[in-house]
Amino acid sequence: MDFKDKVVLITGASSGIGRASAIQFAKKGANIILVSRSQEKLDQVDEELKKLNVSTFVYVCDVSDKSQVKKMSETVLEKYGTVDILVNNAGFAIYGSISKLPIEEIESQMETNYFGMIYCIKNFLPSMIEKKSGHIVNVASVAGSFGLPGIASYCATKFAMLGFSEGLKHELKGTGIGVTVVSPIMVRTNFFDHKSFEKMPKYSPTTLSAETVGKAVLKAANSPRLEIIVPSIVRIVVWIKTTFPYLINPILGSSFKKQLSIQE
Ligand SMILES: NC(=O)c1ccc[n+]([C@@H]2O[C@H](COP(=O)([O-])OP(=O)(O)OC[C@H]3O[C@@H](n4cnc5c(N)ncnc54)[C@H](OP(=O)(O)O)[C@@H]3O)[C@@H](O)[C@H]2O)c1
Repeated sequence: MDFKDKVVLITGASSGIGRASAIQFAKKGANIILVSRSQEKLDQVDEELKKLNVSTFVYVCDVSDKSQVKKMSETVLEKYGTVDILVNNAGFAIYGSISKLPIEEIESQMETNYFGMIYCIKNFLPSMIEKKSGHIVNVASVAGSFGLPGIASYCATKFAMLGFSEGLKHELKGTGIGVTVVSPIMVRTNFFDHKSFEKMPKYSPTTLSAETVGKAVLKAANSPRLEIIVPSIVRIVVWIKTTFPYLINPILGSSFKKQLSIQE
């Protein structure tokens, strides 16, 4: 797909993967709509994009609040008529064992990561259906394929995202609208600034740059595939886990549990 003059809306665009994706689409000449809760951070990304001579629109919105998403979508649709690419990227994790995490913290991850995605899709899908074109890119994680101690509630949001996307993709077959999930391993972003990650060793040598994932999001917007795992080699690990769960689950489970017991 030629992204020139296409309308691309990115949630969680003020930082990390969202910001990096915005830069990738801007380099292709798309019109970018930047959505997140922080006006100040969005304005900084907007300044960067303006240097690439693209048209941008900043909208402050908490995607976990369905009335805010409705207002945001009404404003966007009035201005642009439709969005060609919807990137549901806003998300966060809170680290901790399920027995210790307050229920509100478990709920809040689902409200942003999962329901935030659904609110955006519900509001923008009708205009895509009418136009018989569009692509929805949902940024999940490999945590959508592995249930891990310490981030079980976060994993659940990404498993949910993957299952929802698979079902939706089937529903939309033949409509001209694509659905693709991008599932990265660990990425160097502000994601781990949440205080619950304070005592965690931050990054490993395999940690990805946000730019690498931004490029995968761009690729996803033009892909017939359901899921793009970044890096692609990790698909083998997912396959082994699904095919021989008794081999890989104990290894992953005990190494993440060891980390959790050190922290707690
Ligand atoms: N970093 C990783 O290792 C990693 C790995 C796999 C998948 N992911 C996924 O990648 C996505 C982006 O994360 P990131 O790594 O780029 O982290 P990040 O740098 O912390 O960015 C998260 C973005 O989400 C926005 N956001 C959070 N809650 C929001 C809400 N309720 N409404 C609107 N915007 C909200 C934040 O902006 P405001 O604070 O301005 O609202 C920020 O722009 C997430 O869905 C995450 O689960 C991350």
